[in-house]
Amino acid sequence: MLKNIVLAGFMGTGKSEVARELSRLLGMRVFDIDREIETSQQKSISEIFSCYGEDYFRQIETAAILKFSSEQGVIISTGGGAVLREENLKALQAHGIIFCLTASSETILLRTAGNKDRPLLQCVDRQARITELLTARQPLYEKAGIMIDTEGKTPFEIANEIIRIIP
Ligand code: S3P
Repeated sequence: MLKNIVLAGFMGTGKSEVARELSRLLGMRVFDIDREIETSQQKSISEIFSCYGEDYFRQIETAAILKFSSEQGVIISTGGGAVLREENLKALQAHGIIFCLTASSETILLRTAGNKDRPLLQCVDRQARITELLTARQPLYEKAGIMIDTEGKTPFEIANEIIRIIP
């Protein structure tokens, strides 16, 4: 069975860009969980958070992950919080190999600057928020899959690093 390539990792680590690069290099289809949620809900991620709250978002995120994890031979780009639920990881791991993209909090701060569609980062002190969330989630990312450092690398270089690892 052809395994899925799953990209996980914190906001701003470049999952969507790397997914597109992998798709170009390998000719595999990409499912971006956040984009699939936005299409099915007809709302942006920020609108979903503000209208229904984070718990509701996590529920539909799990439903989308369960749906797309059953595909074969595709690339799945997840949202940064996908690692929060064990059932998400179990489903993704069942048919796929998970790569967790990493970057320093300074790089994440730079890469997420100016992006208004990250409700968890809409606060006064974004640096503190990023550090707080990263610290809490770091053990979850480490447990979820193979860590890939993205610091100073292009999406093309990161995609090739992943391609060299996949069996
Ligand atoms: C989230 C990350 C976002 C999106 C939502 C929540 C998180 O995805 O799913 O805003 O909890 O880290 P990206 O990692 O693609 O920004």
